[in-house]
Amino acid sequence: MITPTRTLIAEALKSSAQGKEITVKGWVRSKRGAKNVAFIALNDGSTIHNIQIVADPAAFPEELLAKVTTGACIRATGTLVESLGSGQPVEIQAKDIEIYGEADPTDYPLQKKGHSLEFLREIAYLRPRTNTFGAVFRIRHAMAFAIHKYFNDNGFYYLHTPLITASDAEGAGAMFQVTTLDMANPPRTEDGKINYEEDFFGKHTSLTVSGQLEGELGALALGQIYTFGPTFRAENSNTPRHLAEFWMIEPEVAFYGLQEDMNLAEDFLKYLILYALDNCADDLAFLEKMYDEELTARLRSVVENDFVRLDYTEGIEILKTAVQKGHKFEFPVDWGLDLQSEHERYLVEKHFKKPVILINYPAGIKAFYMKQNTDGKTVQAMDVLFPRIGEIIGGSVREESYEKLKAKIHAEGMSEQELWWYMDTRRWGSAPHAGFGLGFERLILFVTGMANIRDVIPFPRTPKNAEF
Ligand code: 4AD
Ligand code: MG
Repeated sequence: MITPTRTLIAEALKSSAQGKEITVKGWVRSKRGAKNVAFIALNDGSTIHNIQIVADPAAFPEELLAKVTTGACIRATGTLVESLGSGQPVEIQAKDIEIYGEADPTDYPLQKKGHSLEFLREIAYLRPRTNTFGAVFRIRHAMAFAIHKYFNDNGFYYLHTPLITASDAEGAGAMFQVTTLDMANPPRTEDGKINYEEDFFGKHTSLTVSGQLEGELGALALGQIYTFGPTFRAENSNTPRHLAEFWMIEPEVAFYGLQEDMNLAEDFLKYLILYALDNCADDLAFLEKMYDEELTARLRSVVENDFVRLDYTEGIEILKTAVQKGHKFEFPVDWGLDLQSEHERYLVEKHFKKPVILINYPAGIKAFYMKQNTDGKTVQAMDVLFPRIGEIIGGSVREESYEKLKAKIHAEGMSEQELWWYMDTRRWGSAPHAGFGLGFERLILFVTGMANIRDVIPFPRTPKNAEF
């Protein structure tokens, strides 16, 4: 065990060791008081709650207490005593205060008054010091931990798939190119094209949009794997649900069909949400009070209800009936068209009032690798649709037949050569298998009740925005 150099405020507030001397270190949230007493609210990030430090102005130099302003970083050592004021069980009677870093009140941007989330995005380097972002990032941590725990407890292996890839084939979206070539003067081939043979990897490379294809290679050897890493998409979608850099969790399991894939997705999501309810109660209570009074009720309802499992074709029928009855959607509804988030949310929020797993989508709107159904029209795709979010998970059974996969790749005008290694797994020891991708930030959006995906990742990357 490491030797602590301070008591975490989370621990101090739980402590019954009253009368004991402790040291806390953190950032001042506020100072108030009268001539004969100063109350300092201190936060160290270990909990949403501040500890109150009571200082007798007569016992400290005036210049020192003057530097204890909102945002300053201090150490306080003193006796932990029962608090007389309401709102906290214990407080610290300060014996010694040290200033680590001042925060001049005339220019420190985070004052005690509430700031808008938009303003806080502009100062994303400081926003972790606010209650809101402290709560969101603690919950984000808890969810990451719970994801690893869930898979480890269920016998899955964490597989690290590459971030730089030469295959453009996943079809999940536009990619960011990775190159060390001189953009002003790139080497050219005889016919005038950029000569990527001279690039760092000797070929054209990009940042990955998904770890799935390599994840499948792992599943076809280790049996059940998951990835959990950053993915990159260069679409220009400026929405509250899209990031250019986001984290994705992708389990991939040998010998799974569509039912098992759905069962895994539902069990996994319920486990994570229950984990948050059980382990992040203080932070959830704060977010519920500040932003979303239905937050924990919504989380509980997802944990307690079976998800609806529905064919895409039936989903389209429900949406068409809604249109006939006068419901207005911005985008058209027709068999063969992809669902927009307004359609997904109609099914979930208005029609069923619980999460929906939509399956068997038209082949034409889904990726080349999805297992083809015998109807010749649909594939064994599976999207999990959530209240307020729309699509939170996208997955499928994978086509394991070499011949069908080859025909599909040709039909889509893709390069078989580029995917030779993927194709080879269908030649040797091919197996039925399935998996899905959970967008980590969409999960955090749902669990925290925040409205914008930019507010659930510490440093968001979106079109025209890569600050910090
Ligand atoms: O549906 P998608 O594109 O699926 C895949 O990438 C598959 N390879 C997954 C698999 O089967 N292994 O993305 C999966 C999930 C979406 O459901 C969504 O939650 C999230 O990733 N996602 C995004 N999240 C934030 N910003 C974006 N631009 C996102 N695009 C997808
Ligand atoms: Mg999808």
